[in-house]
Amino acid sequence: MSLRITPLTGNVGASVEGINLNEPMAPEVFRELNAAFLRYCTLVFRDQFVGPEAQIAFARQWGEPVVTAGLSKLQLAATPEVVQITKIPKATSSTEAWHYDSPFTAVPPKLSILSAQVVPNGGDTMWTNQYVAYDRLSEGMKRMLAGVRVRFRGVRLARMQGIADKDIACAVHPLVRTHPETGGKVLYIAQSDNIESFDGMTPEETRPLLDYLYAHCTQPDNIYRHMWRVGDVVMWDNRCTMHYAVHDYGEQERVLNRVTLKGEVPV
Ligand SMILES: [Fe+2]
Repeated sequence: MSLRITPLTGNVGASVEGINLNEPMAPEVFRELNAAFLRYCTLVFRDQFVGPEAQIAFARQWGEPVVTAGLSKLQLAATPEVVQITKIPKATSSTEAWHYDSPFTAVPPKLSILSAQVVPNGGDTMWTNQYVAYDRLSEGMKRMLAGVRVRFRGVRLARMQGIADKDIACAVHPLVRTHPETGGKVLYIAQSDNIESFDGMTPEETRPLLDYLYAHCTQPDNIYRHMWRVGDVVMWDNRCTMHYAVHDYGEQERVLNRVTLKGEVPV
């Protein structure tokens, strides 16, 4: 069996065919898949229909699944590594903005894998390529951003979960992050609600620069937009891509099973 890996845009995302994620994977297949994952940041597998056990087994090839604190209500009882992402009210949706998962924690996740169970009309997810976003900056801007650190704060998630202000998670990480496996540089940012300031700068000084970088990263030519079908599996590298869950499906059901892997401290 040989993999067919096809880029889905010029900058981010590739589809993978010729693999059944319900079956164990040979080491050489994993190596090929991992190379594609590092190159395209987001991989799409159609018609997989994986259950929780198979999804966890697939995820373990890449590392250690985490049981995410604060999401216990969404965990499957027999397999708490699998979180069921169900529809959330649009008004408080923390995921309808470009984001990395959990940059406001000390050790943000390495990657996540979603498996589509119930799909509405709409409900697409989009991903960026944060290497490209960094590379497209001028040399002057790159010099200015070198060494800047970001004070992340999980405000949007806290709002959604009713967490008190004093208990909102915070962490400080480099704005220009070096990917631990590829050595490439990426812009590590968030939507402005989730950034207190750049370290050592005021919020007023931070905001215009941050707004510029956010718009710069999320240009249409730096995005892959995935239209879900039941049975799809999509995995993304949470160290070099931001994502955005479009909430355009009203009261329709949407269920995606997610497994997230332990990451490393950003440097
Ligand atoms: Fe997310």
